[in-house]
Amino acid sequence: MPHKKAALRVVPLDTHVRKSSQIGAEVILPDSMTLFAPQALTENDTHVLRQALFDHGVLVIRGQLGIAPQVLSDIASVFDPQAKKRPFWRQNAGHRFQEHIITKQLLEDPTGTPSYYYWKGRCRGLRGNPALGTETPVVTMHNKLLQDQSSFHEHPLSDDEIKRGCTRPYRWHMDAPLYESLPGFATSIHAIEVPHVPDQQLQFPDGKSMPVAAGATLFFSGARNFELLSPEEQEFACNTTVQYAPRAYEWIRNCKASADGLTIESLGQEKPFNELLEWNWEEVQAFPMVWKNYGNGKPHLQILGCCVYSLTTTDPVTGKSVVIDDIQEVRRICYSLQSKVYAPENIFAHRWEQGDLVMFHNRGLLHSISGQLSHYPDKRLMWQCSMASRALPEAYNTTGIWIDKRGG
Ligand SMILES: [Fe+2]
Repeated sequence: MPHKKAALRVVPLDTHVRKSSQIGAEVILPDSMTLFAPQALTENDTHVLRQALFDHGVLVIRGQLGIAPQVLSDIASVFDPQAKKRPFWRQNAGHRFQEHIITKQLLEDPTGTPSYYYWKGRCRGLRGNPALGTETPVVTMHNKLLQDQSSFHEHPLSDDEIKRGCTRPYRWHMDAPLYESLPGFATSIHAIEVPHVPDQQLQFPDGKSMPVAAGATLFFSGARNFELLSPEEQEFACNTTVQYAPRAYEWIRNCKASADGLTIESLGQEKPFNELLEWNWEEVQAFPMVWKNYGNGKPHLQILGCCVYSLTTTDPVTGKSVVIDDIQEVRRICYSLQSKVYAPENIFAHRWEQGDLVMFHNRGLLHSISGQLSHYPDKRLMWQCSMASRALPEAYNTTGIWIDKRGG
């Protein structure tokens, strides 16, 4: 009788790492596979992997140095039946990163000004993989906003705090352009070079802190966030649509964030709409405030707080809708809901190891970079890929009422 090969397994991370976050599992590849090849998985292994992403939010496969960059884009179709197949650049020379394979060469600092390289399949010799090219064009995109925390927080950490190893979230977000392209189901990140730097202390309100690896990617679950809301807040959230600003990242380019990276601290630095790159309301996105988990049906509070513009909330009894468009009030409401989750027990901080391949549920989590690495000589090299979807996020609510879009 032939020896039965071990199938793919999913092992939730230790409870002291997961805490109350509901996030984190390791994927052990089947015996027949050393480097991850999503298209070579059996039907059953694919099912197990897909369900694990929706249930655990972040999956890590260790020891993946040597995978082809194409694997990162192949991952999208495992989780998203409607993932787009072609990189956007073939259709249009615009700077819409969602459908590209992106390699991030963090030359200075993961929170500094990284250089982004788009893989176009023709380049050769980029550090870390000979299939990619050093001549690959550096592309500007919204992630270029990722400056050191001192440039984005309204009240940045002091030099002394940075010397003592303090760090903060930069900006909590989903990978979502919020214009034209819909956010992908999964984002994948592969760590090729990881600096050896002492742990840092992630700062929370009321003087709390949490040790994290320097440069850790931070996550919280929209499902955990939803659980922490009062019944009234849950009802409000389930009946509310979030309208994002046109060209949202450009709109907030001069704005400053709250210390926890959840929102914009004060009003006044937003770019006037008539100074933004060309746009129209048809392409500006509005999403439900609560998204239904594609794999298990759970509700996830999913708000990209720094980019919100207005809310449309519907009374579940009368069906009457009200638009809240005072931006300060809109931000206050979103912040009051999301800040409930920002506590050490709810934050999962991925400790990068060389070779890690991480896949995360982009439509069920919020994530942020952290870390101050600029004082250290070691560099970091990672690849990241997020493919746009054709599927609108599905609203989770009890009434079935969801207003798709607001014109304006
Ligand atoms: Fe991101």
